[in-house]
Amino acid sequence: MNSPMKVAVTAETLAGESRVAVTPEGVKALIGAGWEVSVETGAGDGAFFADSDYEAAGAQITDDARSCLSGAALLATVQPASRNLVSMADRGIVTVGFFDPGGPLEVLQALADAEATVFSFDLLPRISRAQSMDALSSQATVSGYRAALETAGRLGRFFPMLMTAAGTIPPARVLVMGVGVAGLQAIATARRLGAAVRAYDVRAAAKEEAESLGAKFVDTGIRAEGAGGYARELTPEQLAAAQDALAGEVARSDAVITTAAVPGRRAPILLTAAMVERMPPGSIVVDMAADSGGNCEATVSGREVLVGRATVFGMANPASTMPTHASVLYSRNVVSLIRLLHSGAKRTEPPTDGAATGLGNLDFDDEIVAGACVIAGGRPVNPRAAQTLGVQPDTIGGRR
Ligand code: NAI
Repeated sequence: MNSPMKVAVTAETLAGESRVAVTPEGVKALIGAGWEVSVETGAGDGAFFADSDYEAAGAQITDDARSCLSGAALLATVQPASRNLVSMADRGIVTVGFFDPGGPLEVLQALADAEATVFSFDLLPRISRAQSMDALSSQATVSGYRAALETAGRLGRFFPMLMTAAGTIPPARVLVMGVGVAGLQAIATARRLGAAVRAYDVRAAAKEEAESLGAKFVDTGIRAEGAGGYARELTPEQLAAAQDALAGEVARSDAVITTAAVPGRRAPILLTAAMVERMPPGSIVVDMAADSGGNCEATVSGREVLVGRATVFGMANPASTMPTHASVLYSRNVVSLIRLLHSGAKRTEPPTDGAATGLGNLDFDDEIVAGACVIAGGRPVNPRAAQTLGVQPDTIGGRR
């Protein structure tokens, strides 16, 4: 019988990242599925999971990242592993986490040199079977909720309508731009707080979804449906037309929450500084897309900027601002993906088709496994990763 394989959970190293890839609940689930789990000391501190919680769940606590990674078949992270972390891993390590396939060359090269196999939640197909692994959605849910609360907290006005002895206060007018997973959660949260919410998107499906949550849809007539249910990038003419059509709507809003994104691209500029300047005094823009360039011309990630008498706040890493539940959901996504990888892996020796990893030969005929893979056995299978590495993408399992 094979001895249990080990999952390593190291402490996140990116400044401001408070989440952890696997929670104590996740450790229990992995151990139940036949894994060993080692956790670097303090890895869960930012999300309020203590080493003792991990120990109680059955994990081994290690003093540093190197001992955590020693002998591990799989590394689970939130942010991409650093080059330093990769250098400590065994050859053929499998990594699971967020990973931009166009990401820094030095990290991609280190992973290729380590013959690593890299799975990214950014690439996971948005199909029904993959919903339990959909970390983009789980983290967008957290981000949208937080964006609405940030907005309410920074606005010098009530969200709800209030009828008081001192008279009536009208509800705040909140405009949500970009009605994907995060936008829908922002709408729902702002509505729960009593705001009058309007919503805007370029996908036709967004109208019904926004309305089902009690928002009024602002229809500019501009549509940009892309592949896989995502939006495509607007042409410069369409973008200018959208800005014109929305200027009046923005000028009437007490608060604007922006969440618009196009996969693999810089966030579209939906708000010019001139549009923000026309907003009422004390109004606020909370830009959830700040990390990918921002939806507002004036956005600076992690900062408040005054434009006229309105404030623009660029939310940096919004999901990390609510690290406990963000980690709980993320950890469930991680465990679900690991289960899928493991269930399809065949532990054959020696490797038969070049897709061998620390986990065995993975099932690249599974569209989730193939779709989420950036690098397989050190060879880039994702076109953007291959381009960054300056090589042709590899085909694996006959899927690409
Ligand atoms: P996202 O984070 O890529 O983008 C957020 C929103 O911004 C999207 O609604 C998009 O249409 C919008 N947007 C992009 N450019 C815009 C522009 N110029 N102006 C206004 N809005 C703009 O999207 P997310 O949240 O990841 O979801 C994308 C799609 O995937 C949605 O249709 C969602 O319902 C679907 N989905 C499907 C799942 C499934 O399991 N079947 C799971 C999760 C999402």
